[in-house]
Amino acid sequence: MADRYLSFTGTAPGRFLTRRLGLPQPSTLTRWTPEQPYPKGELLHLTAGRSVLALSPVLARTGLTPGDRGEPAAVVLDATGVRDVDTLAEVHAALHPVVRSVAPSGRVLVLGAPPDPADHHQAAAQQALEGFTRSLGKEIGRGRTVNLVRLTDASAAESTLRFLLSPKSAYVSGQVIEVKDGDGAGSAGAPVDWELPLAGRTALVTGAARGIGAAVAETLARGGAKVVVLDVPSAEGDARKVAESLGGTALALDISAGDAGERIAAELPDGLDVLVHNAGITRDRRLANMPAELWSSVLEVNLGSVLRTTDALLAKGVLRTGGRIVATASIAGLAGNAGQTNYGASKAGIAGLVRSLAPRALAEHGVTVNAVAPGFIETKMTAAVPLFIREAGRRMNSLAQGGLPADVAETTAWLAHPASGAVNGQVVRVCGQSLLGA
Ligand code: NAI
Repeated sequence: MADRYLSFTGTAPGRFLTRRLGLPQPSTLTRWTPEQPYPKGELLHLTAGRSVLALSPVLARTGLTPGDRGEPAAVVLDATGVRDVDTLAEVHAALHPVVRSVAPSGRVLVLGAPPDPADHHQAAAQQALEGFTRSLGKEIGRGRTVNLVRLTDASAAESTLRFLLSPKSAYVSGQVIEVKDGDGAGSAGAPVDWELPLAGRTALVTGAARGIGAAVAETLARGGAKVVVLDVPSAEGDARKVAESLGGTALALDISAGDAGERIAAELPDGLDVLVHNAGITRDRRLANMPAELWSSVLEVNLGSVLRTTDALLAKGVLRTGGRIVATASIAGLAGNAGQTNYGASKAGIAGLVRSLAPRALAEHGVTVNAVAPGFIETKMTAAVPLFIREAGRRMNSLAQGGLPADVAETTAWLAHPASGAVNGQVVRVCGQSLLGA
């Protein structure tokens, strides 16, 4: 269902009228296209406090041109050296003069340090960056995003910085992402092919016959992966079409079947590099009206099967060292949603799974585990939502519009990237900074 309001506000009379009425002003977002695969424009690199990050060589590879003359497409504020309230003032001093000039769909990226448990002044100042980032995200407008990355090693964060500075992260705003030291899992010394990062790798995407899953399969295939498109037997025809268009294979399988892990393992004798748990269902009803079957079907598909297949594929060694698991949570799981106690429970469970398993999966199998948490994404699922609730879902975020399946797919591809081995245990919202549970 097209967002007609967004198209209307893109016209001169539409902009005039909606401004006069004080209505939301969504901007058409600049997204990745094959014609414009890299970010374009000027990058302004600022610092607050004394930084020891070796950032410039990494920023030089983003495709943006360093400079401080015009309307920057991106501003990176290195605030890793902020240790107290005084140095925090440098955040204001750095960004206050330039924030207005950031280009439409531009990026503000704040870099912070992990809070120091032995220094509560540093911890307070670094935590302050979170509130700062989220507040600026809510006021900046014009399709611009603001995110915070906590890091200690710029090269370990290269894939993350590239993603957040690029049009691929158009619908990711107000996020706080931690990047660990070193290269974590996978990239260990091997040169990274930024054009075809997944060449020679196999990816399996559940629920990929349509919607977000199909977009994820397409984006991973674009990165060079051989994709396995898994969906329920009744969707086999659509799964085949998606697989054929991407040069991959289809696997007709109900992921909640008790032997799903074994079936997948049998299908992949050579192993798997990227496992994307995307399949999900909703069966909405208020708890007082919810029969046990609606509870258990949602918990089974969205959480139980994710736990079971993950355990089976890790135990059997199907996921190779350097592997990536990306699960799908939802802002409904983080914020709660009336009529979705089953769905909210299942999606919050995904966040719990990710945070607990991530360190062990990395230590024992060399595999990272992260999740995406989509907000309102324009799919068949959300097109079926009644008009007024749909409109509220679309507008109640900092970008005042719904996201596209491609936005979730690009975020998944960043987490699945061989150079993202230092990103582990993160739940990243793809929600345009939704007001729900923000
Ligand atoms: P969709 O309903 O369009 O697609 C889901 C796919 O999963 C379908 O092809 C379906 O056949 C498949 N599937 C369902 N049960 C399955 C099973 N037992 N085994 C194998 N495949 C199964 O949904 P959409 O919108 O693309 O959502 C994808 C994921 O994103 C889901 O996990 C959903 O909960 C999550 N999500 C979506 C949001 C949105 O706004 N569309 C918001 C937040 C989360």
